[in-house]
Amino acid sequence: MKPAIEWRGPHAPAAQAPFAADLHAALARTPKSISPKYFYDAAGSRLFEQICELPEYYPTRTELALLQAHARDMTAQFGPQVQLVEYGAGALLKVRLLLDALPRDAVQFVPVDISGPHLLAACDTLAADHPGLAIQPVVADFSRPHDLPPCPAGARRVGFFPGSSIGNFTPDEADAFLRLAAEELAGGGLLLGIDLVKDAAVLHAAYNDAAGVTAAFNLNLLARARRELAAEFPADGFEHLAFWNPAYRRIEMHLRATRALQLRLGSECYPFQEGETLHTEHSHKYTVTGFQALAARAGFRPGQVWVDARCWFAVLWLEAPDR
Ligand code: AVJ
Repeated sequence: MKPAIEWRGPHAPAAQAPFAADLHAALARTPKSISPKYFYDAAGSRLFEQICELPEYYPTRTELALLQAHARDMTAQFGPQVQLVEYGAGALLKVRLLLDALPRDAVQFVPVDISGPHLLAACDTLAADHPGLAIQPVVADFSRPHDLPPCPAGARRVGFFPGSSIGNFTPDEADAFLRLAAEELAGGGLLLGIDLVKDAAVLHAAYNDAAGVTAAFNLNLLARARRELAAEFPADGFEHLAFWNPAYRRIEMHLRATRALQLRLGSECYPFQEGETLHTEHSHKYTVTGFQALAARAGFRPGQVWVDARCWFAVLWLEAPDR
């Protein structure tokens, strides 16, 4: 019998994201900024899972409720046979709701994630709960060109990109990702979650929780640099900063220097002025029609939309025309 889980993608250290090189580049530029993908080491992934449970952090809960209520409607868009590709797979909790709504032999599941060990553990758990499910994990940075296993004959390839993770991209980066996805998913489609523009106080609270978990998540980026790269900086040298930027319709997260200080990385020493920040994340919010227009420009045909009663979060079906 073939094993249910077949590994694809490189396991060599070269496949690891180049944290050291990217952090040097981040600290050398003005203003200082780094990709949010470096939040997600083992500690960061755990902190993110805690964020999802916070009372103030509504996106996960709202999207899960939409998936729970409408999984059959959503999977009805897929067609009878599907290769389901999840971008940035994480803990694989949301996709279960889709998998449970599909006949077991109608689907091949292809989770794509940059973190090999995390992906392997999540696939093991999923396989234990879903015996016989075909799982083909791919270790890759899904925002860059990557290889996928061939789509099984007669199946449509469908992408799943939940969590409003697309909000981490600037609109230009989102456009580039959507173009790549429209090509990769041609003849199938993309099911995607977006966080909607809403009252600034609700947004602010979601990224400034009372328990300080989001602050710990943000600060973990530098803690990780200390652990992995022996970076040196004062323990109380940085603080969490998150705010709504209405001009760009995004939450920005930064790490702000509490006083003038130096961050030492390898043989380099990077000065921070008091109040200077390292920009760590944007989280763009969209309107449904605004996002559909962006997706249409990238080659998708917008289809059904599922929105919660408060209009805080939306799941969109986007058809990828045949090429
Ligand atoms: C995983 C990118 C969707 O932007 O809300 C949560 C990450 N950052 N709290 C988001 C995050 C701070 C999250 N995404």
